[in-house]
Amino acid sequence: MSITSPSKVPRHTAIIMDGNGRWAKERGWPRLMGHEQGAGNVETICEACINEGVEYLTLYAFSTENWRRPTHEVAGLMLLLERFLSEKVAMMNKNGVRLAAIGRIADLPGPARKRLEQAIEETAHNTRLTLTLALNYGGRDEIVDAVRSIATEVLKRTLEPDQITAKTITDHLYTRMMPDPDLLIRTSGEMRISNFLLWQLSYTEIHVTRKLWPDFGAEDLHTAILDYGSRERRYGASVENLGNLEKVS
Ligand code: IPE
Ligand code: IPE
Ligand code: MG
Repeated sequence: MSITSPSKVPRHTAIIMDGNGRWAKERGWPRLMGHEQGAGNVETICEACINEGVEYLTLYAFSTENWRRPTHEVAGLMLLLERFLSEKVAMMNKNGVRLAAIGRIADLPGPARKRLEQAIEETAHNTRLTLTLALNYGGRDEIVDAVRSIATEVLKRTLEPDQITAKTITDHLYTRMMPDPDLLIRTSGEMRISNFLLWQLSYTEIHVTRKLWPDFGAEDLHTAILDYGSRERRYGASVENLGNLEKVS
């Protein structure tokens, strides 16, 4: 792909859906009500992404660090996940959404994992939008898993150490089937990555909004996409050389 792509739509948009707890706290409600509202917002943003022409939407839903939260919050989040998956497969099939997941999925509680695998299978034929949920996801663990799998190939002598390139690593990540994100959105104002897609975000444009995730609507997504469209992506090149260079990785 040329570095000066004519399209201003971020083909792959990733979102750190943050602020559910604060949304509930503002109303004096338990945190889980914020999570419930946040889960409800996923459908709105999926449909908005389709309208904008986004092809890949990756949502950070549960990090490897989120297990540190109180047991009842973690249990509530897992139940919400199960419910979301049961209720939204019909919406996904109606809208052409293919579900995928990244993270250490095998370590999710059995019922949530089974529901997830089922939903992935039931939506596998869809082609309009790939919705990837990052679940029990950590960017460092993802790199550890990639390194382990590369080391195994080296031990088997199917790969020589000096054949390992950046592409080898990219090809061993959970995200090997998708392009790197063009745009990362983080809601609720925090200016950090929180262990999300550490390798893949190398040249991603970042848009942080103070809006809390349950309040982040289609018009906020549109604003983020307009912001993205106004950026000049350089990939380390000088402005004069932009036209001659290919995008990194
Ligand atoms: C994001 O909302 C959802 C998850 C991390 C599961 P938070 O629960 O982090 O909300 P705040 O940051 O406490 O407001
Ligand atoms: C990031 O939000 C993880 C998800 C949105 C799933 P957190 O609320 O967990 O991140 P920190 O703790 O503010 O860095
Ligand atoms: Mg948070």
